[in-house]
Amino acid sequence: MTTIGMIGAGEVGRQLARAAIGNGYTVVLANSRGPETLRDLVAELGPSARAATAEEAAAAGDFAILSFPYKVVNDLPVDALAGKIVLDTNNYMAWRDGHFPVVDSGRKTVHELRQEQLPTSKVAKAFTHVQAPSLFRLARPAGSPDRQALAVSSNHPDAVDLVSRLYDQFGFDPVDNSPLSESWRSAPGTPMWNFHDTGQSRAALVRNLARAR
Ligand SMILES: NC(=O)c1ccc[n+]([C@@H]2O[C@H](COP(=O)([O-])OP(=O)(O)OC[C@H]3O[C@@H](n4cnc5c(N)ncnc54)[C@H](OP(=O)(O)O)[C@@H]3O)[C@@H](O)[C@H]2O)c1
Repeated sequence: MTTIGMIGAGEVGRQLARAAIGNGYTVVLANSRGPETLRDLVAELGPSARAATAEEAAAAGDFAILSFPYKVVNDLPVDALAGKIVLDTNNYMAWRDGHFPVVDSGRKTVHELRQEQLPTSKVAKAFTHVQAPSLFRLARPAGSPDRQALAVSSNHPDAVDLVSRLYDQFGFDPVDNSPLSESWRSAPGTPMWNFHDTGQSRAALVRNLARAR
């Protein structure tokens, strides 16, 4: 039984938790306010879910998913995530997060910054361009002609492999857009972003990632 430490239990975290449980995973969920505030969600998700602190969720997970915006102040459970693959669903949105000049200038991607915050983990940008409510609506079995694709970026091939397997289980084709320095190609405002609501085939996603300037 594989356990996912899910830090962030908002729109994305709770939808990914539903998909994960539906595919046989157990999840340990955390938010910023504390496990008692997740009681209703855990009751709804059933026996494969429990609530914990972020530190406990990180320690319990065979791998982890972070689903909250990047912040300069590093309050992540770095030691508990050491050696683990960490998926990060964050999108950099300056109107919401404030401006990060190093990202705005193109010197680094926001996911390279996350990797720097977690130097002993293997960070992967994942699930960033599927709207949380669309995760189940767009999912299709492997081989379906209308199956949509999702991009993954990481500096670590085993993290790309894990995310690719997860995408396939959740009903999507993977497109490897590594390393993290290339992950700006799937940022809000790029050509592929126009399709984040409707989805796009693997061929279209590859084409749209290449068109990013
Ligand atoms: N919404 C979407 O459809 C969508 C799709 C793809 C990607 N994204 C990206 O994914 C990220 C999450 O989006 P969202 O819509 O799920 O956000 P959200 O609904 O605001 O949820 C954020 C969650 O993260 C928790 N959190 C925040 N800081 C934390 C910390 N330091 N430690 C532990 N938990 C923390 C919050 O806990 P509290 O509530 O207790 O503060 C909340 O549970 C964003 O960067 C977004 O751009 C969103």
